[in-house]
Amino acid sequence: MDVNLARIVFNKMNTLEDLDKNKLPQHIAIIMDGNGRWAKQRGKLRIFGHENGVDAVHQTVESCAKLQIPFLTLYAFSTENWKRPKNEVDTLMRLLVNVLKKELKTLNKNNIRLKTIGKTDTLPKKVHKELTEVMSKTENNSGMILTLALSYGSREEIKTAVQEIAVKVKNNIISPENIDETVINTHLYAHFLPDVDLLIRTSGECRISNFLLWQIAYAELYFIDVFWPDFRENHLVQAILSYQNRERRFGKTSEQLN
Ligand code: IPE
Ligand code: IPE
Ligand code: MG
Repeated sequence: MDVNLARIVFNKMNTLEDLDKNKLPQHIAIIMDGNGRWAKQRGKLRIFGHENGVDAVHQTVESCAKLQIPFLTLYAFSTENWKRPKNEVDTLMRLLVNVLKKELKTLNKNNIRLKTIGKTDTLPKKVHKELTEVMSKTENNSGMILTLALSYGSREEIKTAVQEIAVKVKNNIISPENIDETVINTHLYAHFLPDVDLLIRTSGECRISNFLLWQIAYAELYFIDVFWPDFRENHLVQAILSYQNRERRFGKTSEQLN
């Protein structure tokens, strides 16, 4: 049995030291799911789950920064999440403002730069203002780039890119033959991010829910049956260990890789 696989099987409390530092994913993306069900299990309102998810965000960000992961992207609010009951949306937005205010110190302490992807102009003014402030106060940090996907939907991202490219074609700035993958990528919200290496989804659901469809073309997927508020460093390590045990072939044969 592979050494790493043995660690996953036999040691449930994995730590950062168990990881091969030469084989870390460069871009980890997480669908932080299951807050509502976590709260329901405890007979509480859904928002109680969101509140308790904040700690998991804090710990995951710090662990990834410690590992010197260059890019961490968190799915915090989708374009479809606007369809939730107004009071849940309002409370989530208030929570977001509080978290941003509180976590600015953590970001600077860990040399993290904050970025966003999504239709952020649709967010309430207060959230927008706080985001702009935290982004500007962390823009000179040179460590991990933490990207929050907010009011983000991948289809909307691609649609917007197509519209922008179409306008450039119409104005003779670009010709259709020159539209390649790089051109498309530069028009996406996530143009500053490399492809995702490892995509984690908590809560046991095995779906993508409109997250980074373009960027996950060759990502390794990891689904874990733990609700987001219970996600801890050892779960993150398990996900990365699983990633480190996979052979990424990108269409080639195993023999070609060696
Ligand atoms: C994820 O948890 C947080 C957001 C989508 C904002 P959910 O709120 O989706 O929780 P479940 O999936 O209903 O349990
Ligand atoms: C995806 O979770 C969005 C976020 C985690 C922010 P959802 O809970 O909205 O996804 P579905 O509706 O179960 O697919
Ligand atoms: Mg959910």
